[in-house]
Amino acid sequence: MQSFTFHNPTRILFGRGQIAKISREIPAAARVMLTFGGGSIRQNGVYDQIQAALKGREVVEFGGIEPNPTFETLMKAVDKARQERVDFLLAAGGGSVVDGTKFIAAAVPFDGDPWDLCLRHTPPASALPLGAVLTLPATGSESNGYAVITRKSTLEKLSFGHPSLFPCFAVLDPEATFSLPPRQVANGVVDAFVHVMEQYLTYPAEAPLQDRLAESILQTLIEVGPRTLAEPQDYEARASLMWCANLALNGLIGAGVPQDWSTHALGHELTALHGIDHGRTLAILLPNLLWVQREGKRAKLLQFAERVWGLREGSEGVRVEGGIVRTREFFESLGVSTHLEDYNPDRDRAEEIVARLERRGVLPLGERKDLDAAKVREILLLCR
Ligand code: NZQ
Ligand code: ZN
Repeated sequence: MQSFTFHNPTRILFGRGQIAKISREIPAAARVMLTFGGGSIRQNGVYDQIQAALKGREVVEFGGIEPNPTFETLMKAVDKARQERVDFLLAAGGGSVVDGTKFIAAAVPFDGDPWDLCLRHTPPASALPLGAVLTLPATGSESNGYAVITRKSTLEKLSFGHPSLFPCFAVLDPEATFSLPPRQVANGVVDAFVHVMEQYLTYPAEAPLQDRLAESILQTLIEVGPRTLAEPQDYEARASLMWCANLALNGLIGAGVPQDWSTHALGHELTALHGIDHGRTLAILLPNLLWVQREGKRAKLLQFAERVWGLREGSEGVRVEGGIVRTREFFESLGVSTHLEDYNPDRDRAEEIVARLERRGVLPLGERKDLDAAKVREILLLCR
């Protein structure tokens, strides 16, 4: 096992009615800015619950944070927060609103061009504290320190992170997710599944507990994913999905093990250039990436096939392929196509993607740093 420091400071308030408790999590004298997306919180009652919980407090609002939040929109929120001398941010929405709010938190006190947070990974000297009311189980952003921001003018989608950006608290009320369209629920199942895979499907690292935690989350997603899609108001199934998605990226299962975030790195390019939902880009890429990387990942692919999919028969090659095929079929069973062409891409952008990754100096990717430009091309060709 590799050495690690694990510290997750986010207080989780899980369950029905927990939004009512947020007032005690926010300093009494705080000037709060409530941030949200395109309006779903006004339709599903989350906005009203927050208003009731914060009655009598000074709250300014910033709505309109879009899916794949943009620098351009977020800078308007930064201006407003500075003008209003806001000192606490409350994000209500999915990963995009939470990520966007982390950017605002870091950008408000930032000295210089805040895009450097993403482009140069300049660490913020300080950040405003933030809390989150999560309405979409998927990203784990509600209790980690990462964010992914898009610059509309250049179509770059870049991630950054800092320990000061963990939300102080996160409300996870499964009922706040009942209003989700099936597409977003399916995206969330896939996203959580792939977060686990990026921390698990590498090479054995003498970390049996991390492996079994990861396998448990995968098995639970396979069990509750279809159930919660079929029965959106089944509280228990939605609660399990919410907790799976949280644990998939709160740092626990990745502590002490090698990680491979290449599916995400390529996925961000497909979102930036083709406008495909984050979870869907991962469904397109993961099976093909595992196939191309199957030699280096062989031991873990065999373990995955056996422990997660129960595949014990046949040669090693058959089992390796079987685990990948079952994963693809699982995504398809959720209504998520694993083929790029189904998303109507305007043109083949594989070379553009390779050039962008090379220009940014992020290649080679992977836990063994062996995913080079040629392999990126090969994966993208298989994605069609
Ligand atoms: O904007 P509103 O009106 O709220 O509608 C949203 C949005 O249209 C809607 N929605 C959310 N909760 C709802 C709801 N509709 C009805 N009822 C509800 N309860 O869903 C749509 C998508 O929301 P979005 O926040 O974009 O989805 P998601 O949570 O999947 O977040 C995706 C973003 O997170 C980033 C992705 O790259 C992407 O930008 N990620 C962040 C990570 C992190 N910070 O750790 C890790 C992930 O790998 C991911 O990269
Ligand atoms: Zn993701």
